[in-house]
Amino acid sequence: MEASQFKDLNPSPRLLLGPGPSLVHPRVLRAMSTPVIGHLDPEFLALMNEVQALLRYVFQTQNELTIPISGTGSAGMEAALCNFIEPGDNVLIAVMGYFGERMVDMARRYGANVDRLDRQWGEIFDPAEIEQQLSRKKYKLLAFVHAETSTGAEQLHVKEIAAAAHKHGALVVMDCVTSLGGMPVRVDEWDVDIAYSCSQKCLSCPPGLAPLTVSPRAREVLRARKTPVANWYLDLTMVEKYWGNERTYHHTAPITMNYALREGLRIVAEEGLEARWARHRANAEALWAGLEELDLTPFVPPSYRLTPLTTCALSPRLDDVAGRKRLLDEYNIEVAGGFGPLKGKIWRIGLMGYGSRRENVTLLLAALRKLLS
Ligand SMILES: Cc1ncc(COP(=O)(O)O)c(C=O)c1O
Repeated sequence: MEASQFKDLNPSPRLLLGPGPSLVHPRVLRAMSTPVIGHLDPEFLALMNEVQALLRYVFQTQNELTIPISGTGSAGMEAALCNFIEPGDNVLIAVMGYFGERMVDMARRYGANVDRLDRQWGEIFDPAEIEQQLSRKKYKLLAFVHAETSTGAEQLHVKEIAAAAHKHGALVVMDCVTSLGGMPVRVDEWDVDIAYSCSQKCLSCPPGLAPLTVSPRAREVLRARKTPVANWYLDLTMVEKYWGNERTYHHTAPITMNYALREGLRIVAEEGLEARWARHRANAEALWAGLEELDLTPFVPPSYRLTPLTTCALSPRLDDVAGRKRLLDEYNIEVAGGFGPLKGKIWRIGLMGYGSRRENVTLLLAALRKLLS
């Protein structure tokens, strides 16, 4: 083995303005360089309590079972589905983009009979159409994405949708991977049963943890299961014993990622959620105005446009792949293209967490102006 062929790691100082991962806050990076301690060390157990308390704040919930799942956002999605689905259960999924599709795929793998409602990518659901479908058949669970990262659309009227689901006896699962910490997510007020997110977007941490919260109603459903949870690693009946009072070992917690999340959440609490949401909105509005001037029209109407993630239609003067390559090569700026039906039609620009800053908006718009000139 010629070790010298492997050079020192030296990643470029990218400005991450895509849909995630987003820029990691320097304080988070500092927290990650502190010593690793054991997953049952009393100091780590105390840190776990703090992480849970801070997560309850960002989710705006009193749910006792509010924890970071080890893994990325998809692990959160998987935990939100596998714990509540048993083979043969009827599940309704409202799909308005790529991540709704992923939910369908996962739910089927756990043996659910999945019915799906579909909206064209870029549109959202009217609560009445979801309620109509809920009244046709008995569903165990309704799932949808709050902030669809593939389109830039926010599913509005969550409270009404959750009320309809509960009226018909279904649990409510909400993906808030792109919204948590960047725009209003009110788990208790909206009466959402299971919500999950990720560490690498509006919480300004690296990818690796998936915050999850579970209502007492959903925990009863979990306790009443007739079959074991089909996914050992994400089985909340075991994981909750490590995060709860018993503190029994289940798997080795990713210690450093929990340091990161604690620091990311502490920063959210210091800023305050309302101020943070307002900052994301103000910077998004500045971006939208600049994009309009460049003829890169935002793809989603303002009434349900996400603030942490903007999608814009490409102009004929801007080639999708070549344009993004130039942004990366010449300016170290990362933005993302569209995929599925939106491939080649839109760009996805994230202003998330620590990355949601006025100077980043100015820099990106200046670089785009150069590209278009
Ligand atoms: C809405 C949504 N759900 C789920 C995921 C999956 O998260 P991850 O890629 O962290 O596994 C993503 C990722 O971007 C997402 O945007």
